[in-house]
Amino acid sequence: MARQTASPSHTGASFSSLARVRILFICLGNICRSPTAEAVMRGLVAERGLESEIEVESAGTGDWHVGYPPDERSVVAAAERGVELTGEARQVVRGDFDDFDLLIAMDCQNERDILRLARTDEDREKVRLLRSSADGELDVPDPYYGGEGGFAEVVEIVERCCRALLDEVAPTPR
Ligand code: 4NP
Repeated sequence: MARQTASPSHTGASFSSLARVRILFICLGNICRSPTAEAVMRGLVAERGLESEIEVESAGTGDWHVGYPPDERSVVAAAERGVELTGEARQVVRGDFDDFDLLIAMDCQNERDILRLARTDEDREKVRLLRSSADGELDVPDPYYGGEGGFAEVVEIVERCCRALLDEVAPTPR
């Protein structure tokens, strides 16, 4: 099947017509929240056998941690829920709008920063908040300067919202 252009759900269009849905999760540093979302979503995708239909990556709006692995506190919190964090941080680039169908922001500041890179309405329609899939227009709280509990909370929020997002974008079984 030929690829089609992604259509944002808030226009009422469906992702199920896409041959492959490419999702980029984005936070500030790409060492805590977005690598967690990437790994959690990858696990859910594998659970449902959708590896060839849904592609998942992550990036950060900032460049401070480029090349670094995920924060050890996120690694531990994710491992406690059976999720392994891998990869190296990278910064989001304008070309990500060409390479992904959905750019999923962890918080409203990330969303504003991504929208500043958008060139067209089509780009802008690809951007949304992770929690909008389950909770409304709320942030995934930044755990970086908080206590250990913040990292476990991130995993819990991310798991719930990734399930809701996957339900929305997954192809309907034939
Ligand atoms: P993340 O967390 O955006 O979830 O990866 C942060 C990582 C680093 C910083 C802030 C948040 N920082 O200020 O360096």
